[in-house]
Amino acid sequence: MLRRKCKAAVMAQCRHCWRLYQATPSHMQTRQFKVAVIGAAGGIGQPLALLLMTNKLVTELAVHDIEPTTGFRKDLSHMDTGCQVKAYFGSDQMKTAIKGADIVMITAGMPRKPGQTRDFLFDTNAPIVAKAAALVSEHSSHALVGIITNPVNAVVAVAAEAMKKCGRYDPRRLFGVTTLDVVRAEKFIGDHMEINPRKVRIPVIGGHAGTTIVPIFSQCQPPFEGDKECIESIVKRIQTGGDEVVKAKAFKGSATLSMAYAAARFTNALMRGLKGEPGPPECAYVESDATDSPFLSTPLTFGPKGIAKNHGLPELDEREKQQLKVAVDALKKSVSKGVKYME
Ligand SMILES: NC(=O)c1ccc[n+]([C@@H]2O[C@H](COP(=O)([O-])OP(=O)(O)OC[C@H]3O[C@@H](n4cnc5c(N)ncnc54)[C@H](O)[C@@H]3O)[C@@H](O)[C@H]2O)c1
Repeated sequence: MLRRKCKAAVMAQCRHCWRLYQATPSHMQTRQFKVAVIGAAGGIGQPLALLLMTNKLVTELAVHDIEPTTGFRKDLSHMDTGCQVKAYFGSDQMKTAIKGADIVMITAGMPRKPGQTRDFLFDTNAPIVAKAAALVSEHSSHALVGIITNPVNAVVAVAAEAMKKCGRYDPRRLFGVTTLDVVRAEKFIGDHMEINPRKVRIPVIGGHAGTTIVPIFSQCQPPFEGDKECIESIVKRIQTGGDEVVKAKAFKGSATLSMAYAAARFTNALMRGLKGEPGPPECAYVESDATDSPFLSTPLTFGPKGIAKNHGLPELDEREKQQLKVAVDALKKSVSKGVKYME
């Protein structure tokens, strides 16, 4: 009776109810996961936190930044979604934000300024990611970690090395978030074919920067309708989608809202995996033996321990094989930059 009356979020606050909640079969529990967003006060962090607040699977949201997060937390805390939101601020509180989290989304660090490549951000962002990754290893080693911070191609390797140093690296639990490339591909293809972009599924493999982004048009569902020139122009648009936004924002910011949407989609896919109810495969940049690059984005199915299945390389046509070769050469350099940094 009591169990029926109590909403999961209310249960989370009451010790008696919490015991009942834990005894409830998992399929009857609706709110289950603690998600921490590191860099939450930023352009991506704030809308990501907003979207996560509305996700029924999130029990607790921890928002952390080196900038104060209390005002932003108060704002979110008035939402009637039943998700508890807690604010953490400053270097010292990062570990408390991370502690006990099931998923840690890292969006802390500098975005690109006009004329800068993602690589330019490495020196500033690598130490931030290294610190967050080490704290995850020490305080929440079971957590799944999504890295949004650029340059993704290199800083995911930094995170892996930081976790190895703590003796707690599990390649099934570390992801570079490349979902925005997939979202852009689905949107641009949907617009071109005049169909609902949500009905489009296309693997986007490789990495997350320029020519390392390789959309696999030959595996698009429904099959892509268009000639070679058309494919080339959409590929180019997907690869330079970030620049398109930077220019449209008159060089005052980069992609934040579409990125938050993509990160929320990715976090939801991870949570569904944790619940043992995975959806369709999502691409992410993970440790991989599919090519010579130690990390590669390929389609993945998620499970209770992170990656349940890495589907590896999809079937590729000749043009895609060439594009992947170029991507792999660049990725090897990025990964080795990340590994060297941690040495
Ligand atoms: N993976 C992708 O597809 C993708 C897409 C767009 C942007 N990005 C990257 O995401 C990152 C964030 O972009 P943004 O537009 O939100 O930037 P932003 O500057 O608006 O926000 C970054 C936030 O990180 C915080 N921060 C900095 N150092 C920190 C630390 N040590 N601990 C905690 N917080 C810290 C800042 O205070 C700021 O609030 C950038 O590196 C950007 O290049 C990735």
